[in-house]
Amino acid sequence: MIVTENLTKIYPGKRAIDGVSFEVQKGEIVGFLGPNGAGKTTTMRILTCFQPASSGTARVAGHDVFEAADAVKRNIGYLPESPPLYLEMRVREYLEFVSRIKGVPRSMRRQRIDESVERCGLGDVQQRTTGKLSKGYRQRVGLAQAMLHNPPILILDEPTSGLDPKQVVEVRRLIRELAGEHTIILSTHILPEVSMTCERVIIINQGRIVLSRSLRDLDAPGPDRESLLLEVEASADVSEQLTSLEGVHSAQRVAADGARRYRLLCDRGRDVRPRVASFAVQQGWRLLELRAQETNLEEIYLRVVTSEGGVA
Ligand SMILES: Nc1ncnc2c1ncn2[C@@H]1O[C@H](COP(=O)(O)OP(=O)(O)OP(=O)(O)O)[C@@H](O)[C@H]1O
Ligand SMILES: [Mg+2]
Repeated sequence: MIVTENLTKIYPGKRAIDGVSFEVQKGEIVGFLGPNGAGKTTTMRILTCFQPASSGTARVAGHDVFEAADAVKRNIGYLPESPPLYLEMRVREYLEFVSRIKGVPRSMRRQRIDESVERCGLGDVQQRTTGKLSKGYRQRVGLAQAMLHNPPILILDEPTSGLDPKQVVEVRRLIRELAGEHTIILSTHILPEVSMTCERVIIINQGRIVLSRSLRDLDAPGPDRESLLLEVEASADVSEQLTSLEGVHSAQRVAADGARRYRLLCDRGRDVRPRVASFAVQQGWRLLELRAQETNLEEIYLRVVTSEGGVA
């Protein structure tokens, strides 16, 4: 559904993205992660025809973003980092305006607007002036305009940024609902959000893709293993001692976040935390943290964005 090859964007004195290649299959929800300035927005703007790349190619729904921008835009709904709102328009009026420029047939407009308004929780503010809305509500209007023409692909640049916790949950649910029929790329800085909504993660760092993996593969302690995170203050690397404990299969140092953190793979269903805790005390280490780990995405993220080059 989306294929990029060697996309590169060079600003004067700055390579914003550098040889970005990835594919997104139909119906997939992909989380796009990376530190500030990594190149997420730049990539998204190129895919949505908002700016040209310096070199490389990108095809969206079979259309080249450089040669067939109109066809690409018909297939894509885009929520930019700062939604382009007409602040003096009322919300409904703005959505009517957008539906006209997006070419939604007149007979369909009302239904499409009603659906977007409902899905984005805008019912109560339809007649309010957009410029007088709070940030979170403006974000909702941005989402509503992105899905207005019911495009098969959605590119969402930090869709939950600025929303209150309840709305965050609702937007995530909405994204899950759109799965299957829609292909979605969303950027976020909230790692659990990726685990909650996406099937695959792409991590970009300094303009290069450093990881592209399905979450199932990343979450993979295996069916009979579970993962623990341990943080201790000890004078040396203690992974070997940890591995000698009964029920602990491996202990890997998580280098990115200081040398004191370890990821332990343990027998599932046999809580080894008490044993690990008393062992740490016995050894005279200072125990700073010990907890079950739902996902190791955070550790992987820190590893690939702090190590040079990373893994593909
Ligand atoms: N118009 C521009 N002119 C010059 N440099 C730019 C321009 N737009 C972006 N950049 C640079 O390109 C790089 C990538 O920026 P981009 O906005 O794509 O990052 P991002 O991953 O979206 O970051 P964030 O998480 O902060 O949104 C940054 O170094 C940024 O400073
Ligand atoms: Mg950005």
